[in-house]
Amino acid sequence: MSTAISPTAYNYKVVRQFAIMTVVWGILGMGLGVFIASQLVWPELNFGLPWTTFGRLRPLHTNLVIFAFGGCALFATSYYVVQRTCQTRLISDSLAAFHFWGWQAVIVGAIVTLPLGYTTTKEYAELEWPLAILLAIVWVTYGLVFFGTIVKRKTKHIYVGNWFYGAFIVVTAMLHIVNHASLPVSFFKSYSAYSGATDAMIQWWYGHNAVGFFLTTGFLGMMYYFVPKQAERPIYSYRLSIVHFWALITLYIWAGPHHLHYTALPDWAQSLGMAMSIILLAPSWGGMINGMMTLSGAWHKLRTDPILRFLVVSLAFYGMSTFEGPMMAIKTVNSLSHYTDWTIGHVHAGALGWVAMISIGAIYHMIPKLFGRAQMHSTGLINAHFWLATIGTVLYIASMWVNGITQGLMWRAINDDGTLTYSFVEALQASHPGYIVRALGGAFFATGMLFMAYNVFRTVRASNPAEAEAAEQIAVVGAH
Ligand code: HEM
Ligand code: HEM
Repeated sequence: MSTAISPTAYNYKVVRQFAIMTVVWGILGMGLGVFIASQLVWPELNFGLPWTTFGRLRPLHTNLVIFAFGGCALFATSYYVVQRTCQTRLISDSLAAFHFWGWQAVIVGAIVTLPLGYTTTKEYAELEWPLAILLAIVWVTYGLVFFGTIVKRKTKHIYVGNWFYGAFIVVTAMLHIVNHASLPVSFFKSYSAYSGATDAMIQWWYGHNAVGFFLTTGFLGMMYYFVPKQAERPIYSYRLSIVHFWALITLYIWAGPHHLHYTALPDWAQSLGMAMSIILLAPSWGGMINGMMTLSGAWHKLRTDPILRFLVVSLAFYGMSTFEGPMMAIKTVNSLSHYTDWTIGHVHAGALGWVAMISIGAIYHMIPKLFGRAQMHSTGLINAHFWLATIGTVLYIASMWVNGITQGLMWRAINDDGTLTYSFVEALQASHPGYIVRALGGAFFATGMLFMAYNVFRTVRASNPAEAEAAEQIAVVGAH
């Protein structure tokens, strides 16, 4: 029996590489977040240099946290989950290695080109065409490795987590390729293939589904594996997870126009986007409840297990941001929230509370298993990290709610004679305390990431990866 199995059962090398880079990029991306948040408190921090201005560093922050931190977390976990649930090794070690190094090259490209000012100007799709093409090639490689592994699986069933990861891979490829269609005029400059309202619609079809499929569907794949594993309970309802999957992917793709309310986009498209966003509440909460209820009978574990706490609190923030989103999609609410810090608060309720927290929980779950240790070096440090992350997120989103509603109300206030009650600068001054609290919240969150780096470092230093792989080999042989 054992002769049929390769010397090491699973390819954990690429999982380890992506897991470590998740922590590294997390620190850099969030550190940069704290820096740009501080620029909004102390504008002197722009240093009067073009490369260090808020306008150039902001897209670098979003690229680092979404694609470098979030991307590496998704790749590490999807490769881990697909191998374990399919009971087979990745189809190709060299393609997986190309995926890892290719992705790091794209990120380094972003770090160099964005501060220099090279950008397509499309949000979350800023990278100019040479990097966008490299990204597309790397992404297709990822798809080949992931789906190839599913095809050669040793299990009959495809676990639901893989469906979510699969949808994330297919839709992200489609969005990236369609939105990036452009005409290069030089090595660093291209013009979009679309124009006017069509360009805006394509961009926000991309932008919203980057949220829907990159920041949500992929992380739901993570949720469906790591929550039951860490809670040591089967998923609450497998049937609900299938309904959740089909409902989510069917609805998300229509919601993009809620980013373009009151614009030149046809009114019917705006209303359709609004209606679809409101309906989206149902599958989002279905998934959240499915995850939460998995803890039935295991709630007591929350008292002693900070990793489970990360996972459960991430679900709470997921529920919160997917309630807030549909509300903000209602045109009358959007007329107040749009352009204000309310949007920024909503973004980070999802980004810090959901995306970052679930990734952190999953990485803490995987690291000991990947490096042949029984557990992380220090549970106390994970606990400290948990509180820093939770308090940091709450400070961030609460201050942005206050700022957002203040700004919205001040901008629309008019005197009896129809003139504006407040100048723009007055609204900005009123926002200043909120910016200080946000920077503080961000610093809390980023400090937690430093704790994580130290904890991971100590765990890895005392590790034995060969033992981890041998243990897996035994487990797989045993399973045959
Ligand atoms: C320490 C943690 C973080 C801090 C302090 C921080 C700070 C900031 C700041 C100051 C902005 C610009 C806001 C503005 O233009 O007014 C921003 C934008 C953004 N950040 Fe973060 N961030 C953090 C973590 C994250 C993470 C982990 C993610 C994603 C996983 C994320 C995603 C985004 C996105 C998508 C935007 C653009 C929002 C929009 O255009 O509406 N951030 N962040
Ligand atoms: C049912 C789910 C959700 C709906 C219906 C929704 C809806 C919305 C709406 C209406 C806006 C404001 C658009 C504007 O005024 O410009 C928005 C912005 C945003 N949301 Fe959500 N949201 C949802 C969940 C999430 C989650 C879970 C995340 C993060 C993981 C997220 C990330 C973002 C980002 C990054 C933006 C800012 C985009 C930009 O302007 O750059 N959303 N969302």
